[in-house]
Amino acid sequence: MTILVTGGAGFIGSNFVLDWFQTSSEPVVNLDALTYAGNRANLASLQADARLSFVHGDICDRALVDSLLATHQPRAIVHFAAESHVDRSIHGPGAFMKTNVDGTFTLLEAARAYWGGLAGDAKAAFRFHHVSTDEVYGSLQPGAPAFTEDHPYEPNSPYSASKAASDHLVRAWHHTYGLPVVTTNCSNNYGPYHFPEKLIPLMIVNALAGKPLPVYGDGQQIRDWLYVGDHCSGIRAVLAGGKLGETYNIGGWNEQANIDIVKIVCGLLDELRPDPAGPYARLITYVTDRPGHDRRYAIDARKIERELGWRPAETFATGIRKTVQWYLANADWVASVQSGAYRDWVSTNYAERA
Ligand code: NAD
Ligand code: TYD
Repeated sequence: MTILVTGGAGFIGSNFVLDWFQTSSEPVVNLDALTYAGNRANLASLQADARLSFVHGDICDRALVDSLLATHQPRAIVHFAAESHVDRSIHGPGAFMKTNVDGTFTLLEAARAYWGGLAGDAKAAFRFHHVSTDEVYGSLQPGAPAFTEDHPYEPNSPYSASKAASDHLVRAWHHTYGLPVVTTNCSNNYGPYHFPEKLIPLMIVNALAGKPLPVYGDGQQIRDWLYVGDHCSGIRAVLAGGKLGETYNIGGWNEQANIDIVKIVCGLLDELRPDPAGPYARLITYVTDRPGHDRRYAIDARKIERELGWRPAETFATGIRKTVQWYLANADWVASVQSGAYRDWVSTNYAERA
């Protein structure tokens, strides 16, 4: 038995592959285009492990996906590959439509042809697991109940619109063709290997470099943060026991305002790597807000707990401490991903926010 993972060199995908081999010896084929967000070094500890095969390629390449399915005969596809950063989607939505919409369409069509050719137990066991986001549900008012699985779709950014489109395709391929799909919609993740364009790792690496900590708008936007290892265990639970055609929300019951997250990160750095120049919070700088910025996300994760017994193992206090420690211990990884292209992105996104 084998699973095909897409986007396994990115933040969540690589954590998923690393976690997979902690609990399973089932081989993994990792299809990843190695965009700016993909990094083979994330899986360096598995380099000599024969259970992991890496394929450098694009999910939009139908012939490649067909040949991987025919060769490896996976019992499941776990689909992480995506363009994932809201700010980049505002500057350049085209790549999001291509990978998140066309790429998911291509995978679904390849999966449908492959699954259609299976028989008996192999056909019954096959799963297409689509990894998605809470951002498809839009923005919550203060005090409104958290997102349940039947909350209306109201995506507001090019990123969330492209993910919403992909969720709809997955749903339709189940209803129309019977493709055995499950979808998970997860809240904001944090943890090791998080690319330093996103809030938490950006704050850590900027603080350590003595650079400003750019907080958009008033910093009161709320996200529901989940440690990435808990997202991975939630995906494993849904892959193993989720009902076909169903969606499962995954979240940490951990709503926090951005400014509070930044202050927590600063406090941990003050403790673990004190700066002689003074507390890191001195670097906090309020900058121009993100256009169309969603005010609040919150996940109601009762369905996955009730049906599959999943709950997060980490609290935010334990997860964020581990995360800050990981960044302190992995300065080489941080340096390796801060390429010229990364510096270009930082100047594109932040120059105009002064
Ligand atoms: P990421 O940007 O860190 O990684 C994406 C990976 O996909 C990279 O390795 C990249 O090289 C690869 N990729 C991109 N385009 C590709 C293509 N056309 N073909 C093959 N590979 C391609 O993203 P992430 O944060 O790890 O997110 C993974 C998935 O989880 C995404 O689908 C995202 O929407 C979803 N998600 C993310 C979060 C979060 O907080 N990061 C929360 C909920 C859901
Ligand atoms: P991000 O990590 O980009 O995730 P998402 O937009 O998918 O939730 O951003 C998390 C929150 O942090 C979001 O409200 C935007 C905010 N933010 C900042 O205030 N400053 C920054 O430099 C970044 C990247 C994000």
